[in-house]
Amino acid sequence: MIEMMEAMDASGQAQPILASWSESDRAEGRDFAAWTNFAATPYISFTHGERFATNHANPVAAEVYGLFEDIGEMPAGGIVAKPTFSIGPDGQAYWETLFLMEKAEAGTSPDTNDWIYTAIMPDGSLMGRTLGANSDGMYFCAACHMGMSDNTDDLLFMEEQYRLRN
Ligand code: HEC
Repeated sequence: MIEMMEAMDASGQAQPILASWSESDRAEGRDFAAWTNFAATPYISFTHGERFATNHANPVAAEVYGLFEDIGEMPAGGIVAKPTFSIGPDGQAYWETLFLMEKAEAGTSPDTNDWIYTAIMPDGSLMGRTLGANSDGMYFCAACHMGMSDNTDDLLFMEEQYRLRN
């Protein structure tokens, strides 16, 4: 067993990663990996379980997410994904929750400023989605984002030192 792992290391093969977001029924669980990453480096998100995080924007969102505080509004169809991971005692990265914010057409979700909040567990199962499964349990996402937002369409952004500069 140990020999096998050493052999894997030596051949540069990826270590096993205990996450299956790609098993999710939601396409974002697979698609986000190809979106634009706006984080220059993973940073610790204290508001999302004190895990390491990066921020990825789909093509619609990527047009404007880099404006950060000057964003004004996210157009409908924009999705921002925030994958999180922790480092285990073994020094290995373990994927945690995948957080998603999707801007829907105006009027879709007046209670959340037309944002749909989704969380996908490491095994690919859905923790919940506003307007969908466990909708009520997901409103805390909106409550915090709406409460902290200052004319940024409920987006809160990572701290400046972690942002990718063009
Ligand atoms: C207690 C406040 C709080 C709660 C609760 C919260 N967030 Fe966040 N969220 C933030 C802050 C602050 C940021 C930006 C900084 C960071 O990530 O640490 C952020 C960033 C994000 C981003 C990246 C887009 C952006 O705002 O720049 C997504 C996606 C996201 N959150 C989704 C969620 C989802 C889904 C939930 C619920 C499961 C949730 N958040 C719950 C505070 C919160």
